[in-house]
Amino acid sequence: LLGGGIETQAITEFFGEFGSGKTQICFQLAVSVQLPKDKGGLEKNAIYIDTENTFRPDRIIQISEALELDPTKILDNIVVARAYNSDHQILMAEKAEDLIREKNIGVIIVDSLTSQFRSDYTGRGMLADRQQKLNRHMHGLQRLSDIYNLAVVVTNQVMTRPDFFFGDPTAPIGGHIVGHSATFRIYLRKSKGGKRVGRLIDSPNLPEGEAIFSIVKDGIRD
Ligand code: GTP
Ligand code: MG
Repeated sequence: LLGGGIETQAITEFFGEFGSGKTQICFQLAVSVQLPKDKGGLEKNAIYIDTENTFRPDRIIQISEALELDPTKILDNIVVARAYNSDHQILMAEKAEDLIREKNIGVIIVDSLTSQFRSDYTGRGMLADRQQKLNRHMHGLQRLSDIYNLAVVVTNQVMTRPDFFFGDPTAPIGGHIVGHSATFRIYLRKSKGGKRVGRLIDSPNLPEGEAIFSIVKDGIRD
């Protein structure tokens, strides 16, 4: 679906409702970025900006063991940072440069991109402020990904659109700001029998399409 994987010098957004697998995909990527190049990795490390307190070391251990990697080493190479509010989150991304160089970072994961913004800027009156801040954050992330040739992966919840009567009545938070700044957008949804479906949307170089995957103890599998 992604033509070989997550691209560097780009922002990839996974969006979908609760339980659709966004966080699990982030866990998988924080591990697989560390794989040798001949196994599809970058032999680099991960920064994980956790805004919802959902980072789970035990899942990283399970995913690492499934790939026959040393879980302790893998965990050491994931720099987890808790973002307490949206300004803190923006600042963390802006101050990440030293860390990127020091720790040989190949992916910056922001899970979730929008949750803090959503609680800090409530109500329609604050929408413009929120979008402006979100825009600044996305530009900061894009800049890091360009300069350091790394991948940026962000997650985004969907909200129900009250003005939408046909088709899927959900839309990603952040609307066009996030949509235009993300290079690749993948919409995740739950399907029958515990399966999940990822749909690639708006890609600059890949055809739209869908892929089915499962979340298992070992991580994300086809
Ligand atoms: P929100 O953050 O709430 O928006 O959801 P999300 O999209 O981040 O969901 P997440 O990635 O956390 O997926 C949660 C789902 O993953 C659960 O409902 C489980 O079905 C599945 N899951 C999590 N851990 C495991 C595991 O160890 N084994 C299996 N088989 N499934 C798991
Ligand atoms: Mg999550």
